[in-house]
Amino acid sequence: MPRAHLLVVDDEPAILTTLQKTLSLEGYGVDVAGGVRIAEEKLKKRSYDLCLFDVSLPDGDGLDLLAKVRESKETALTPVLMMSGHATIDAAVRATRLGALNFIEKPLNTDALLIMIETALRLERAEAEAKALRAATVGTGELVGESESMRKLGEQIARAAKSAASVLVTGERGTGKELVARAIHQLSPRAKGPLEKLNCAALPSELIESELFGHEAGAFTGATKQRRGKFERASGGTLFLDEVGDMPLGMQSKLLRVLQEREIERVGGNETIKVDTRVVAATNRDLVGATEKDLFRADLYDRLNVVPLHIPPLRARRVDIPLLAKHFLELAAKANDRRNIRIDDTALLALAAYSFPGNVRELRNLLERLVILTPDDVIKADDVRACLPGGSAPKATGLYRPGVPFRVLVEEAERTILTDALTHNGGQMAATARGLDLERSHLYKKARALGLRGEKADGDDDAEG
Ligand SMILES: Nc1ncnc2c1ncn2[C@@H]1O[C@H](COP(=O)(O)OP(=O)(O)OP(=O)(O)O)[C@@H](O)[C@H]1O
Ligand SMILES: [Mg+2]
Repeated sequence: MPRAHLLVVDDEPAILTTLQKTLSLEGYGVDVAGGVRIAEEKLKKRSYDLCLFDVSLPDGDGLDLLAKVRESKETALTPVLMMSGHATIDAAVRATRLGALNFIEKPLNTDALLIMIETALRLERAEAEAKALRAATVGTGELVGESESMRKLGEQIARAAKSAASVLVTGERGTGKELVARAIHQLSPRAKGPLEKLNCAALPSELIESELFGHEAGAFTGATKQRRGKFERASGGTLFLDEVGDMPLGMQSKLLRVLQEREIERVGGNETIKVDTRVVAATNRDLVGATEKDLFRADLYDRLNVVPLHIPPLRARRVDIPLLAKHFLELAAKANDRRNIRIDDTALLALAAYSFPGNVRELRNLLERLVILTPDDVIKADDVRACLPGGSAPKATGLYRPGVPFRVLVEEAERTILTDALTHNGGQMAATARGLDLERSHLYKKARALGLRGEKADGDDDAEG
């Protein structure tokens, strides 16, 4: 079975022959057409995973063909790459408007072309995988992701769930810490028990204490009745301590004692009560740094951090972005009764290039906004750019992480910029160097130093030094 079926439309028989040979060798099923009419016939007969259209064809225009492909229900979402030997800006703009994935300059660079085809097909596959993954993740709180780090996290969650040890979930805001905490509970033998949550940042010290441990009637003004605290109520289940880094120092020592003794005393009471409560804590603070500044007790940190789980920021696992975007699109479409709305690949690429300082939550909100605001049934790159903060340019905020050396942060930022630029230019070094106004030799050096690319991929490119 071929990896995927491609349709190549070009007026030059030599190009058709070369592409058919090259792409077949790569394991693709390839059909070719020398003009618009034959292409249309082929498109009626079977569905293609990807199309490559030349602009000038003997019996018409490749852009008109693209427009027709977009209009037909069967092919509206088929990814299309345009190629041309003398592309005008107008043609490129029109192609982008019509949802072409990219505009490739002729003469064709085979390596760059193959990378582009692979990338386009991978985006397509993400949709199918999103569905499969969702089916597989029901019951774990729908943790979506296909990056290596998310796969690892999934394994760690499963392992952590089996034990009763304390877990500390760390990660920037909006990375999914609460979702992970719920998944741990749901996959644990305590799943049938209660899951209680306390946000340590939202309450003053005195209130945290009575929330956690409960109080007896008359313990303080307003305490008219006896009340059980979250520790007691979560016995046999899990207590999720959110924003634990914001817990006042006085409360920290009380919490530590409870974790050691596994028993509590209600405020104003003198009876000790045994509890069997599993604690999962979360924070977006740098707790190690906080212990060094004596803002967080080191012994409590050790108690909570028996099993550490770190969720990387979204910009460090960009492959998850298309999958998550489709997931949230589906949720928002249902909620807003827009069942026909879709997102095209150019829009997904635009999303994947953005830095998401607010991480997954920001992506989720963005998709909700797009579903509500996009009048058409297809969300395109322009719609995405209009919704991103700062208009079109992705902002590089949220790069600062306490404790990470400046040198490392700069290197990360450089890697992101180069990856974005290379993706944007279909992996072509010459075009990337032009787009960044950078000497080509300098770009090679940078790319290699950042481990982005061991060697040059442009066949026609030999300016090095
Ligand atoms: N991997 C994921 N798959 C699906 N949804 C996710 C994922 N990660 C996060 N979300 C969603 O993103 C939103 C934010 O997640 P969550 O509230 O768990 O983040 P958080 O790390 O606790 O953020 P904060 O630090 O701001 O409290 C939620 O709507 C959550 O369902
Ligand atoms: Mg949270």
